Amino acid sequence: MYGLVNRAVEDLVRERFGPEAWERIKHRAGLDIDLFISMDAYPDDVTYRLVGAASEELGVPAAQLLEAFGEYWILYTAEQGYGELLRMGGSSLLEFLQNLHDLHSHVALSFPHLQPPSFWLSDVSEGNARLHYQSSRAGLAPMVVGLWKGLGRRFATPVVVEHACRRDDGAEHDEFLVRFGAAQ
Ligand code: HEM
Repeated sequence: MYGLVNRAVEDLVRERFGPEAWERIKHRAGLDIDLFISMDAYPDDVTYRLVGAASEELGVPAAQLLEAFGEYWILYTAEQGYGELLRMGGSSLLEFLQNLHDLHSHVALSFPHLQPPSFWLSDVSEGNARLHYQSSRAGLAPMVVGLWKGLGRRFATPVVVEHACRRDDGAEHDEFLVRFGAAQ
């Protein structure tokens, strides 16, 4: 994955657990990299090893870390120069979700080797939607739960997310039931 992702993992760990924790995690992951370059593509294995090592070093389940990371990602990308792209996504949570599929198409203009996830909605009704998430990568669904929460915060909209269909359990892709807004 692009270095932007690994840098976000680093910043999250440094902010919440301190610089020493980050050094221990990098060491445990067996990574001899001083600085991640945002626009360089790294093997996915680097990110998975970082998450695995952080889980072991901090004693926090990987799913919980990925969820925290998803929530952080919304703030992080806004701060790292992608705020305009996020703003273009819409001015309400539902509008943003309806435009979500196109977001990474725009991101791909800056990151030519991007392997973006796909998102689409079904069963949309007042305050409810089913979000479908498909990825070439396994195991990142907890990040999507955190992303929803981060978006809920961004749009000051209360959100409840239920992971309804799991690829880990043999489903073709992951699905989330989402209730949002005052009607939840
Ligand atoms: C403008 C803001 C954003 C930027 C710049 C961005 C960029 C990226 C980049 C560079 C990756 C790594 C993929 C790769 O290297 O092949 C990625 C992955 C990912 N992004 Fe975004 N993204 C943004 C917003 C979002 C939002 C709003 C969501 C969902 C709500 C999202 C969901 C994901 C997920 C789930 C992945 C993990 C990869 C996978 O599932 O295969 N991103 N994004």
